[in-house]
Amino acid sequence: MTDVRIRRLETLDERAIRGLSDVLIDCVEGGASVSFMFPMSHTKADAFWRSVADSVVRGERVVLIAEDSAGNIVGTVQVIWAQPENQPHRADVAKMLVHRRLRRQGVGAALLIAAERVALAAGKTLLVLDTASGDAERLYARQGWQRCGQIPDYALWPDGALVATTIFYKSLPGGAPDSATSRT
Ligand SMILES: CC(C)(COP(=O)(O)OP(=O)(O)OC[C@H]1O[C@@H](n2cnc3c(N)ncnc32)[C@H](O)[C@@H]1OP(=O)(O)O)[C@@H](O)C(=O)NCCC(=O)NCCS
Repeated sequence: MTDVRIRRLETLDERAIRGLSDVLIDCVEGGASVSFMFPMSHTKADAFWRSVADSVVRGERVVLIAEDSAGNIVGTVQVIWAQPENQPHRADVAKMLVHRRLRRQGVGAALLIAAERVALAAGKTLLVLDTASGDAERLYARQGWQRCGQIPDYALWPDGALVATTIFYKSLPGGAPDSATSRT
């Protein structure tokens, strides 16, 4: 991976929000189905990242970034701790985004490895995500994630056409369900 480092943001300041918005806008303009419709704008992107910033402060999620040697954010991913008290071992992985100019260099893989490490360090043993991206599906499968299946017509592409989503999970090391206590 060319001169990109991954780090966790403890808080999202204005510079970080600007950088994260640039990445989000680039992904949506590239056609990614990641919650937003055309036309994408800085107003929508900044509002999203400000709400994420508040959530980080509340301790609900972790934001990881990939940054280049100049300190520019080129990618990001989130680990969201599950809220229900009966799922203390689970987290969701979301908003895996890499700027188009840095794709296919291992940034996504590095972000995913870092997200799994953060989750494991927090004692999480089960990760879940969904994706509408074929590129992302291959990334997750390569890293040992299990494909559960697809929900048709789940969301919209930015241009308004319906798109399916695919659900994945990964049990982290030491996290395989204990047959003595696991019930279906
Ligand atoms: C999905 C996404 C995050 C992947 O990011 P990425 O940084 O390109 O991922 P990687 O570089 O790790 O892997 C991508 C491909 O490049 C290849 N690759 C990685 N390093 C490489 C290198 N040094 N040289 C050549 N190829 C390389 C990988 O093998 C992989 O190949 P594949 O397309 O055959 O699967 C990115 O495409 C993206 O942001 N998409 C839009 C947003 C989106 O839909 N996100 C998913 C939300 S869940």
